Amino acid sequence: MKVDNRVTGKTKIAGVIGNPIEHSVSPQLHNTISKYLGVDLIYVPFRVEAGDIEDAVKGLKALNVIGFNVTIPYKKEVIKYLDENSKQALLMGAVNTVKNINGRLYGYNTDAEGFSRSFKEETGIGFAEKRVFIIGAGGAARAIAVKVAFEGAKEIFIANRTTSKANEIADIINYNISRIVETCSIKDRMTEDIFQNCDIIINTTSVGMYPETEISPLDGTGLAFSRGHIVYDVIYNPAKTKFLKDAEKAGCKTVNGMGMLFYQGINAYEIWTGIKLSSEITRKVFESIKDILPC
Ligand code: ATR
Repeated sequence: MKVDNRVTGKTKIAGVIGNPIEHSVSPQLHNTISKYLGVDLIYVPFRVEAGDIEDAVKGLKALNVIGFNVTIPYKKEVIKYLDENSKQALLMGAVNTVKNINGRLYGYNTDAEGFSRSFKEETGIGFAEKRVFIIGAGGAARAIAVKVAFEGAKEIFIANRTTSKANEIADIINYNISRIVETCSIKDRMTEDIFQNCDIIINTTSVGMYPETEISPLDGTGLAFSRGHIVYDVIYNPAKTKFLKDAEKAGCKTVNGMGMLFYQGINAYEIWTGIKLSSEITRKVFESIKDILPC
């Protein structure tokens, strides 16, 4: 048998911490990118138990990994164990990518960057001067709303079952970025006009996710898509939710969350290595791993 040279003394290490971690496709994504680029980097999964996150971060720093991803449930908690965090990640309240720069750990949020990149890639439009309607006010909504605000949206409306959570996100953006956010009730008749006047409609809730694929967050609200809406669902399983099917029937351009998942990884890789992936390599990587992406 020949020597296995995939890992040598010079090989750089990256990884992902979370719990559970077994389902993660990030190792295959990152190791495929390294293979295409010929970069001597290996990416491994680490399951970290609740209560061990601080030790895990210190350990990764001591082991001099080049960086790591952070996934559920540690994206918020990890912030306090890092040396510095980007302004956007702090406003989003979540870090999913950490880079080791000369022994100091820097936190970033590439979920939001992945959302923005996939949205622009698939629709050909950006958020500047757009009116954006966001359904939901959890972690994904906060990251997306902050990103869209940073990218120059004209107005953002947030509708959530629990109004206080929508108000919290509105306050964060209105006080720290720009006074462009209002909250509304998804069942209020007044919301109909707001909804119709928006350019982009985004579902950030889990409503419609497998196995409950027959429901949409708009069910029973009286809100209906119009042809001009661009409609985004963060859900990628199923690839076409009822929300997106309804939008498609109304003639809207639709995008699912698969690109967000893919591009958050591409962006993390670029942050760690300083290499900007060409669109050709990006497409090749996507072709290679699309069959194992979870949908
Ligand atoms: P994530 O990090 O993926 O955003 P999350 O923080 O748990 O997940 O947020 C889930 C979002 O989906 C919340 O806005 C939640 O509404 P509440 O804040 O009222 O809980 C929303 N959501 C989940 N299930 C829902 C349902 N059945 N109907 C309406 N909204 C729902």
